[in-house]
Amino acid sequence: MSTLDWNSLGFNYRKTNTVLTTVYRDGKWSPVKSQNEDKINLTVCSPSYHYGMSCFEGLKAFRGKDGKVRIFRADENAARMKSSCDFLGLPCPTEEMFTEMCIQAVKENLDFLPPYGHNASLYIRPIIITTDPSVNLVPQTDGIMFMVFTFPVGTYSGGQVLQTIKTVVGRDFDRAAPHGSGRFKVCGNYAGAMFAEREAVRMGYGDVLFLDPATHTYIDEFSSANFLGIKGNDYITPLSDSILPSITNKSLCQIAEDIGMNVVRKKFTLDEIEEFDEVGECGTAAVITPVSVVDDKPTLRSNTITKSYAFGKNGECGPVCRKLYKHLTGIQFGLIQDIHDWCIVL
Ligand code: PLP
Ligand code: COI
Repeated sequence: MSTLDWNSLGFNYRKTNTVLTTVYRDGKWSPVKSQNEDKINLTVCSPSYHYGMSCFEGLKAFRGKDGKVRIFRADENAARMKSSCDFLGLPCPTEEMFTEMCIQAVKENLDFLPPYGHNASLYIRPIIITTDPSVNLVPQTDGIMFMVFTFPVGTYSGGQVLQTIKTVVGRDFDRAAPHGSGRFKVCGNYAGAMFAEREAVRMGYGDVLFLDPATHTYIDEFSSANFLGIKGNDYITPLSDSILPSITNKSLCQIAEDIGMNVVRKKFTLDEIEEFDEVGECGTAAVITPVSVVDDKPTLRSNTITKSYAFGKNGECGPVCRKLYKHLTGIQFGLIQDIHDWCIVL
């Protein structure tokens, strides 16, 4: 077992024991190779570098109070990777292959799976890139590499669990185009959000809240997480075809229903959040990161705040986000019965 300080991991890559790779050529995937080296030899002309021909996933493994290791909803990540690959015109591993490689990656890196009790987990990053040289904008069908690597993580924000963040609306920026790639986990979306994200961080915010790119009227999502709002007994989350279908959000909707809340998926404007009791970000990395402030400005980089929406008492996480967080992580750490069979228990 590694001797890392499990309480202060944050969300940073660190090399672990092994990386798994396989390459698709002539209609089949090569036998999975497990290597200690975390570097790969790649042509200068990979369309992944040039044209963003790549997609990825993010999921987590947890060490439970009972000592068992659980991987959360790998089938959902496999299905989402398939939709990203279909969008890019790339071959994709089957659900079975995706899941088996995630399991193998976790087993080979158990030294880095944090012990129970530190609110930490092993992040699993499956990624697809293209390895044959090409400068032509044509779908790649050969030399497709699927890799899975892992690293231990704590909170995405680097702060304490359920520590709130302040956010700003990206009035004059979009993370994805209308009818574009927003609902797929393709690498280019992250590059597209990076400028707005960097400017927001420079101004002291934790994240950018993007509006729907077609009309800039409705709330879409954050740069790396979905939006959730709590109003009375309602769990409210945007309906949009330009946001990533978050597996965490899907799970939280189910949990909200299980605990007797109403789940509302709808289009809603920024004005409407004034009546929300709580707001949060949700995602694999973010889990639930409660939001204390959403600032609206004429433009993202403007010094004028048109309207500031505040949530929670004294900038602290509200009770419903806390309850949902405890329930979700309770299932992941084996404290709450996994009634929907979400976890693969190793
Ligand atoms: N939205 C974006 C843009 C993301 O990058 C992520 C992270 O994966 C999410 C939402 C949350 O999705 P999930 O809960 O499946 O991790
Ligand atoms: C995740 O939450 O798993 C993601 O992929 C988001 C990423 C920006 C860390």
